[in-house]
Amino acid sequence: MRHARAYGLAGLAALVVGAVAFAQSTAVPLPEETPVESAPLEDNAVAELAEAEWGDVTRGQTLAGACAACHGLDGNGTDRSIYPSIAGQNEQYMAHQLALFKSGERVNAIMQPEAARLSPQDMRDLGAYFATQEAQAGIADDGVVDSGPYEGMAFYEIGQQLYRRGDTAREIPGCMACHGPTGAGMPGPSYPHVGGQVAWYTARRLEEFRSGTTTERDTHLFDVMHTVAERLTDQEIQALASYMEGLHPRPDAATRAQMARLDGTVEVPTRGGPGATGDAVEIEAEEIPAGAPGAPDVEPQDPPQPETGTDAETDTDTDPTTEP
Ligand code: HEC
Ligand code: HEC
Repeated sequence: MRHARAYGLAGLAALVVGAVAFAQSTAVPLPEETPVESAPLEDNAVAELAEAEWGDVTRGQTLAGACAACHGLDGNGTDRSIYPSIAGQNEQYMAHQLALFKSGERVNAIMQPEAARLSPQDMRDLGAYFATQEAQAGIADDGVVDSGPYEGMAFYEIGQQLYRRGDTAREIPGCMACHGPTGAGMPGPSYPHVGGQVAWYTARRLEEFRSGTTTERDTHLFDVMHTVAERLTDQEIQALASYMEGLHPRPDAATRAQMARLDGTVEVPTRGGPGATGDAVEIEAEEIPAGAPGAPDVEPQDPPQPETGTDAETDTDTDPTTEP
């Protein structure tokens, strides 16, 4: 693989030199679609992940330099219109997605070669590092809907209603049950951080889940979201994505420490302290205690137990990285 990569770089250099020479001789621009060179797929990347240890934040930070050009060193993305945010994502979810890219089960021409050079331990280290980073949020769309079933509501309110309560009549569970009131997700593999994520990316992921089609071999996590998303309309997907982009992704330092499973030796960055709100953010997440009116009535599958300090290494039930 080292060789393949060396050839890849040599090829790229030749391409650049050639392109410069070409550009000097004529004014014709380069073709837009330069061929993507992808590293060979590694069949067992997901299975190998189970053998890696819980990620090391300091090591992850060193490795994160390789991600910075696109995702930014803090994971918030150098251009929100092109790159999803990975700041605040939980350790296991990120490691699992990286393994899926590496094995080619999750198809993406940009991320596949990035993931291909990571060892399982690198993936978990990166996950631990990005879990300590604070996700930025955007602004939700508050334009008023002028027709259809949600006439008169602000666009983001459609998303807010679904996010908090779902739609019982149509068997759509509230997203909050699994992704938390602030979109921070839950410590554990299955419940990714979604608050503040760029809307285009959230919408596309929801469309993928709704379609029910995946190239992942073990579909049990995908299927959870397929069941959630299968009845959503296009309008609801866009409204959810807008609401979630504006959702304050501000778990307090203790929660973030738990998500990164820090042992107290590494400081978790805070901005403004617990309960602080962002600057340009419109949505204030509402804490709705379980069982209260309006609380989600859907039990998450494999419910996580953040309070009792779920131990991922022993909690194989909820850990896709340890399941075949
Ligand atoms: C050349 C640009 C680029 C680089 C470098 C890059 N990424 Fe990405 N990454 C992307 C793009 C684009 C996507 C969106 C893929 C898609 O559309 O599904 C993405 C998606 C991801 C996702 C999925 C996010 C989610 O919520 O599902 C993760 C995780 C990720 N990248 C982690 C990393 C890590 C860790 C590194 C460094 C080792 C890295 N990326 C380097 C461009 C990049
Ligand atoms: C029963 C638990 C559960 C509920 C309820 C739920 N989710 Fe999820 N969600 C998951 C799981 C599990 C995954 C990870 C799927 C995977 O690994 O493929 C996920 C993944 C996602 C992702 C992908 C995140 C990323 O970074 O790629 C988005 C977006 C998302 N959910 C949005 C929603 C929305 C919107 C709702 C409400 C309409 C919702 N979820 C309700 C469990 C849930």
